[in-house]
Amino acid sequence: MKDATFIIFGATGDLTRRKIIPAIYKLVKNKKLRSFRIIGCARSKKNIQTILSQSKKFARDVQASRWRKIVKNSVYQVLDFYKEEDYTQLAVLLGKQQRIFYLATAPEHFHIISKYLAKYKLARKTDNVVYEKPFGHDLYSAKKINKCISTVFNEKQIYRIDHYLGKELVGDITLMRFTNRILEPLWNSKHIAQIQIVMTEDLLVGKRGGFYDKYGVLKDVVQNHALQLLALTAMEAPKMLSGEYIRSEKARVLKRTQVTAALVGQYHGYKSEPGVTKNSTTETFAALQLKINNSRWRGVPFYILAGKALVKKQTSIHIKFKEVHCLLAKSCPSDSNYFTIRIQPDNGFSLELNSKMPGKKQAIIPVNMDFCEKCRFGPNTPEAYETLLEDVLCGDQSVFVRKDEIEYAWKIIDRVRKGKIYSYKKGTGGPPALDAWNKKNGVLWKEVSK
Ligand SMILES: NC(=O)c1ccc[n+]([C@@H]2O[C@H](COP(=O)([O-])OP(=O)(O)OC[C@H]3O[C@@H](n4cnc5c(N)ncnc54)[C@H](OP(=O)(O)O)[C@@H]3O)[C@@H](O)[C@H]2O)c1
Repeated sequence: MKDATFIIFGATGDLTRRKIIPAIYKLVKNKKLRSFRIIGCARSKKNIQTILSQSKKFARDVQASRWRKIVKNSVYQVLDFYKEEDYTQLAVLLGKQQRIFYLATAPEHFHIISKYLAKYKLARKTDNVVYEKPFGHDLYSAKKINKCISTVFNEKQIYRIDHYLGKELVGDITLMRFTNRILEPLWNSKHIAQIQIVMTEDLLVGKRGGFYDKYGVLKDVVQNHALQLLALTAMEAPKMLSGEYIRSEKARVLKRTQVTAALVGQYHGYKSEPGVTKNSTTETFAALQLKINNSRWRGVPFYILAGKALVKKQTSIHIKFKEVHCLLAKSCPSDSNYFTIRIQPDNGFSLELNSKMPGKKQAIIPVNMDFCEKCRFGPNTPEAYETLLEDVLCGDQSVFVRKDEIEYAWKIIDRVRKGKIYSYKKGTGGPPALDAWNKKNGVLWKEVSK
């Protein structure tokens, strides 16, 4: 059990309400925190009771006594990030406990908050500072933030969050790869034909129009979540499955990754969404082909498909193996084997093998060996933010993104040549032009139907 004070910058925001406070509640409920305090800071004149009551519905299975503990140990302070005097007032509220500063706000505020945390000695050498994604909006801005925060904190104090890395099945990718003898020997260009990373949502931009329009799908989810999935899937074996070793291997593979083809789209009606500019050219859909320039992956295309307003919500990684030489006289397998990792919504993984159709000689049918996490372990696996905050408490940085990883990922995205923006109907598989693009670039998406 740990003791900590959480200082949340952006305490009146959506992220704090829906994710951060429920995650702290879970840590209290699961007895991961012994003594704790929450100090919420933002500009609005609000009180902590209102903030907590709005957050309560997002914390599942709330026990009254534990929630009372949250209320008793929380305070709110009006603080404008740009007013130095507000930081001196914050200092008065801080005790001796370990401090976790959570910057749950837009990246343009990161440098000023960091600067004042250091100037007024609020963040000591043993305290941790958490930076929410997105970390900048391009390579230049990310480098600027990195440069600024590295002058005031050391890298060991800095936690750049990508909440995808806290998801159970994402944590399982490396574990699966490197603890199963049957996988790793096949994990290379000799046996794998291609790798597809599919990250689709059925939702529209909703209330996030103003933010989304400045970013688009490439910067909102591909630069971070999708490229992190790619890095975990493609990296070389680390010396150990922990800490810096994993981060170094991810950085190494991202350094050698580049986009070789792209198709982008925008759903019908996007320009009329609240907060979106009327002549917006922001993409809400992207299909990418990538290559990794190393000996393990030479000649193996990676594909990423991501977007909003599509058929369904799913995040999966499909590893398509090469075809076998067919020894059957009558019929050959219609497709090669797939190993699929399902990140959400139905966490698990499956191996698609070819088998004999019962009663028929030499007739082949693909069958699935399937692991469903919920079916095996029940529905109460930890939420990503709970796992991540626990890691911050314990000083474990392995699932937080290092400075170099973030910069390599921005470099990949900055170099994408978007070309024409194709429009597509909501609830479909993307722009009609995708068919020709798929053919040209050699991909038949697994599970994405129109
Ligand atoms: N929401 C999510 O689920 C989610 C998920 C992943 C990442 N993110 C990222 O996390 C960041 C925050 O997201 P959000 O959805 O919580 O945004 P939000 O609802 O707009 O909240 C922004 C917060 O920042 C505060 N703020 C802004 N300028 C300030 C200033 N000058 N001084 C003091 N406080 C200031 C706001 O306080 P006042 O309104 O009181 O001024 C508010 O508390 C964004 O970069 C977003 O992309 C969000």
